[in-house]
Amino acid sequence: MRVVVTGTNRGIGLELVRQLVQRGDTVEATARNPGSATELKGLRDRAPDCLRIHALDVSDDRSVEAFASALGGEAIDLLINNAGVGSFGDGLEDLDTQQVLHTFNVNAVGPLRVTRALLPNLRRGQRRCIAHLTSRMGSIADNGSGGSYAYRMSKAALNMASRSMAVDLAPERIISVVIHPGWVQTDMGGPGATTTPEESVRAMLRLIDGLRQEDSGKFFHTNGQLLPW
Ligand SMILES: NC(=O)c1ccc[n+]([C@@H]2O[C@H](COP(=O)([O-])OP(=O)(O)OC[C@H]3O[C@@H](n4cnc5c(N)ncnc54)[C@H](OP(=O)(O)O)[C@@H]3O)[C@@H](O)[C@H]2O)c1
Repeated sequence: MRVVVTGTNRGIGLELVRQLVQRGDTVEATARNPGSATELKGLRDRAPDCLRIHALDVSDDRSVEAFASALGGEAIDLLINNAGVGSFGDGLEDLDTQQVLHTFNVNAVGPLRVTRALLPNLRRGQRRCIAHLTSRMGSIADNGSGGSYAYRMSKAALNMASRSMAVDLAPERIISVVIHPGWVQTDMGGPGATTTPEESVRAMLRLIDGLRQEDSGKFFHTNGQLLPW
């Protein structure tokens, strides 16, 4: 398979690249600043035929267009919209609205931009699958603790975008799902998180591999459990 993964210089994105390359997939990995993506470049140097690195800022239209042009007409089997920003603890009265808009731009509009730009590539692919990294914090039904306006709103919007994609792309048999990776030990999740990137990604790839057309539009935990909207 040829797989595009966004936000791969650290965290879950880097681990996705590591495991995809290890199992023999070809990865088009993106990072905002490839020059400083030391670990990612280390992976590329060990598997130069399986891994290409591209510059991509998902919050920027021109950057997304440039990335799509760099791919040319190449078929993409699987797109993993992983890039995201965390913004937690913002209460109603101390909100920074610019921060809310930035978070929304990266987490909700970013995957929409990237997916739209890569549709021609996905249409040429065999697997025809889009997986968006969401969060349980974007679940309206599960929100019993409030706050975190920017992050929660951005992921709820992403969930809605994925559902619309599932409907719109069903005639072309392109699958779109949102996946909560668990609470993962990354810069975003922090050291107290309960899951390692290795465990989260191993489960996530198993889940993605097993997805069928009837799963499109669903909200999954990486362990395969369905989550409430
Ligand atoms: N960790 C968790 O517990 C957890 C839980 C639920 C959901 N998630 C979701 O899982 C995904 C990955 O999270 P993570 O824990 O790996 O986070 P992370 O360690 O903070 O890494 C985030 C990645 O996204 C990239 N990124 C941020 N803004 C970007 C932009 N504008 N354009 C392109 N890339 C951008 C970062 O690149 P830079 O280094 O250039 O900033 C980095 O590669 C996110 O969507 C997150 O919301 C994580």
